[in-house]
Amino acid sequence: METISEAGTSTATAEAPYDAAIRRSRTRRYLMCPPTHFDVTYSINPWMNPHTPTAQPLAAAQWQAVHDQLVELGHTVDLIPPVPGLPDMVFAANGATVWGDRALVARFRHAERDAESAAYLDWFRSRGLKVEQAESANEGEGDYLSAGSWLLAGNGFRTDRRAHVESEQYFGRPVIGLTLVDARYYHLDTALAVLDEQTVMYYPDAFTPGSQAILRELFPTAIIATAEDAGAFGLNAVSDGRHVLMPTGATQLEAKLRDAGFEPIGLDVSELLRAGGGVKCCVLELHGPAGG
Ligand code: ARG
Repeated sequence: METISEAGTSTATAEAPYDAAIRRSRTRRYLMCPPTHFDVTYSINPWMNPHTPTAQPLAAAQWQAVHDQLVELGHTVDLIPPVPGLPDMVFAANGATVWGDRALVARFRHAERDAESAAYLDWFRSRGLKVEQAESANEGEGDYLSAGSWLLAGNGFRTDRRAHVESEQYFGRPVIGLTLVDARYYHLDTALAVLDEQTVMYYPDAFTPGSQAILRELFPTAIIATAEDAGAFGLNAVSDGRHVLMPTGATQLEAKLRDAGFEPIGLDVSELLRAGGGVKCCVLELHGPAGG
């Protein structure tokens, strides 16, 4: 019998009687944006109500906990400086899609977020990446999730279908288009999370029947979320292959993750949820050259 330690190394033990698949974490590099200017001053998704004040210090503490948890797990977290007047910039996942030495910077659907793109263009350029801004509406890793060699790509609310073709050409990777139908789950990363190269978890009702069929075909071992799990934003999760950082409250999903050998880590992000963002929205993965 073998168990796998958190670092992913094997150690022999006499009593490790479990059948759950062995999940290995891989060290990742992420980009986050401090919530210095976070607020809800406009409404571009059904979760946002600009008339309810946000508690900035609480939002800052919740964001810090996400950051610190990633660092504690051994990951590298880069920071992009926040820009005054851009309250949603804390949701760094939307800034770009990054694969190897290429970044495709977002073109936001709403004017309120338009100016964020310039900050991401500058940041990636200053780091020597090949950078372009998407031609069509494209909200970065909010709608593009890397699963093995595929790029799963959401559309329906934010990212334009035409952007899928653009990403396919830019990254030279097959793009699997998935259409979202429920306005509460307006980005792909609110309805689906990639857990490792072969495993995803998702909420079927957030997708058209055709897209549900594609997901069933591609991911027969997927973990299926309930309406309650999705409503708690449980799918807005960051996985390193073993640890799954996710908003608290998706209890059924947490149990299913444990059964499947993952380690869910619930984080209270209640203030960020007021903007329709959770754990994953705050974290952009800078996927390495090997496609990790
Ligand atoms: N208020 C932001 C918006 O509506 C939230 C973005 C959440 N980000 C995400 N990756 N789902 O654009």
